[in-house]
Amino acid sequence: PRILILGPPGAGKGTQSVNLADTYGVEHITTGDALRANKDMDISDMDTEYDTPREYMEAGDLVPDAVVNAIVDEALSQADGFVLDGYPRNLEQAEELEGMTDLDVILSLDVSREELVDRLTGRRVCDDCGANYHVEFSPPEAEGVCDECGGDLIQREDDNEESVRNRLDVFDENTAPVIAHYEDHEGFVAIDGEQTPDEVWDDIENAVDEHA
Ligand code: AP5
Ligand code: ZN
Repeated sequence: PRILILGPPGAGKGTQSVNLADTYGVEHITTGDALRANKDMDISDMDTEYDTPREYMEAGDLVPDAVVNAIVDEALSQADGFVLDGYPRNLEQAEELEGMTDLDVILSLDVSREELVDRLTGRRVCDDCGANYHVEFSPPEAEGVCDECGGDLIQREDDNEESVRNRLDVFDENTAPVIAHYEDHEGFVAIDGEQTPDEVWDDIENAVDEHA
């Protein structure tokens, strides 16, 4: 299936995309991870305000469309089924995506703003394998150590309170209209993202099985 997962920062897109990739054997295409892996690439020839993605990401601002569109276009051209996570984040990107692929299922995770701040400021990620934890909601067995691979757990540069608040403002201004745009699309399903991860996953599996 071709799956799009939408929602604000911290809604659980990354967490549930991993389940989707495992269960349906699809490619997890995530612009956030792709950009984090290429934070220092030179984008100055794209007529951008900053020379690398890093400055935008640390502040919680959007990386310029041209950079992100190219990443997604390349990744989609190599994937059969996929779950697309972190894109599109504004209406211009949504329009680009329409020229790249059709979608079978569009999942929209809903979570309140207060909960998002708690989730993001408490998140820890494995520096080696990228696994996701939360100091309170899904702690690792040993503090600071990844259950999967034994790697160190670190806090993302943009998970400090100031960047988090900016990311949520950027979401309200740029990405909320994208969700509204998809609401009438075939295969659109709104999911209550404030349930436990397992309950969210049940709803997601039902939605995908119904539409894909
Ligand atoms: P990106 O990496 O996409 O970050 P994001 O959208 O802010 O999303 P997150 O990864 O923070 O949250 P998530 O929804 O995946 O939640 P998660 O599962 O981790 O983007 C980062 C930056 O890159 C952007 O700010 C921008 O600069 C740039 N960028 C990326 N894409 C771009 C684009 N298209 N255009 C321009 N710029 C772009 O969960 C969060 C936490 O909550 C975890 O700790 C988790 O354990 C916990 N949790 C998850 N589910 C639950 C649950 N049900 N109950 C309790 N806790 C839960
Ligand atoms: Zn790990």
